[in-house]
Amino acid sequence: MHTAGIVDDAPVNEVAAGQLERVLRPKSGAVSHLCELAAAHDLSAFVLFSSAGSLLPNVGQGAYAAGNAYLSALAANLRAEGIPALSVAWGAWSGGGMAGKEEFAKFISHRGMDLMTPHLAATALQQALDHGDTDVMVANVDWARAGKHLNAIRPHPMVSELVGTGPIPAATTTTEQPALLTRLSALTPQQRLDALLDLVCAEVSTVLGYARTERVAPDQAFRDLGFDSVMGIELRNRLNKATGLRVSPTAIFDHPTSEALARHLLDELVAEPAPFTEPDRETASSAAATASQAARHEPPAASQIDSMSIEEMIRMARGDRPDPVGESE
Ligand SMILES: NC(=O)c1ccc[n+]([C@@H]2O[C@H](COP(=O)([O-])OP(=O)(O)OC[C@H]3O[C@@H](n4cnc5c(N)ncnc54)[C@H](OP(=O)(O)O)[C@@H]3O)[C@@H](O)[C@H]2O)c1
Repeated sequence: MHTAGIVDDAPVNEVAAGQLERVLRPKSGAVSHLCELAAAHDLSAFVLFSSAGSLLPNVGQGAYAAGNAYLSALAANLRAEGIPALSVAWGAWSGGGMAGKEEFAKFISHRGMDLMTPHLAATALQQALDHGDTDVMVANVDWARAGKHLNAIRPHPMVSELVGTGPIPAATTTTEQPALLTRLSALTPQQRLDALLDLVCAEVSTVLGYARTERVAPDQAFRDLGFDSVMGIELRNRLNKATGLRVSPTAIFDHPTSEALARHLLDELVAEPAPFTEPDRETASSAAATASQAARHEPPAASQIDSMSIEEMIRMARGDRPDPVGESE
């Protein structure tokens, strides 16, 4: 049984090289030693503990999803070589371990995944071994509940098929300013802060799975509320969507209460070239600068690279002409 693993969460576009190395070491690294040993022994089973996080749409586990997807592929390869490998993409277990924290259990339950007792998980494992399976997912999922959440991140063919939501609508992009900014532009500085504090408290409550009426205390630390890194990333993404900002990945740790985070958001909004009215201006001027640099074959400045989307970076690496201003995604 290969069960080693660690989590060190970040969305896939923010995974640092060291983070990837740390997360892959116990997965793809450690399992290679067991593969050498497996080839030299007559095993009745070689079980690899993967994660449902490698199969289901999952914000924040870029490196962990890759490490676990590797185990699924490896099981198929080993099976082809005659080794009786089985990769199990587990949902969350109760009784301690990685999913053991009460707040995390509440967080994923709200999103449709409930904990499995070790007894239930072990029974499913035995069934997969008895069937001679190679690659299975074993998770306690309420698909109706999960489908609503999983497809909200990005419509996903497998989830849509499982929950029967029909064809996936084409992705849409919008350049509309978030309604919040229009509302804030009519307020005094103190009212803006109050409005942002309401927003942060409401999003924190949502991430924690509280009722909308159950407001968190503005000065309570996210860590004391039970936040972990995946929950922090979800909060950051929700705030980005509501404000149109690109809040830094560390903002939740650097500003660890709702009050501090609301102040930070206000500072970020005020720091925009034209607060509340033209949130696209920075992007537009950066795109214009990149376009003229590309025409002169000059590399963009580091600050411009920081604000690029993945698509823009790919276009830059390929040497394509940047999109005309305002037409990029
Ligand atoms: N628990 C769940 O709900 C859940 C859900 C999906 C998948 N899984 C998978 O199931 C496996 C077990 O999870 P768990 O909850 O039991 O995790 P856990 O309590 O965090 O234990 C992980 C184990 O991996 C060991 N480990 C970490 N890095 C290692 C390395 N480089 N080499 C060798 N061992 C290393 C740790 O050893 P030390 O304590 O000595 O550091 C620890 O014993 C993991 O692979 C995880 O990805 C678990």
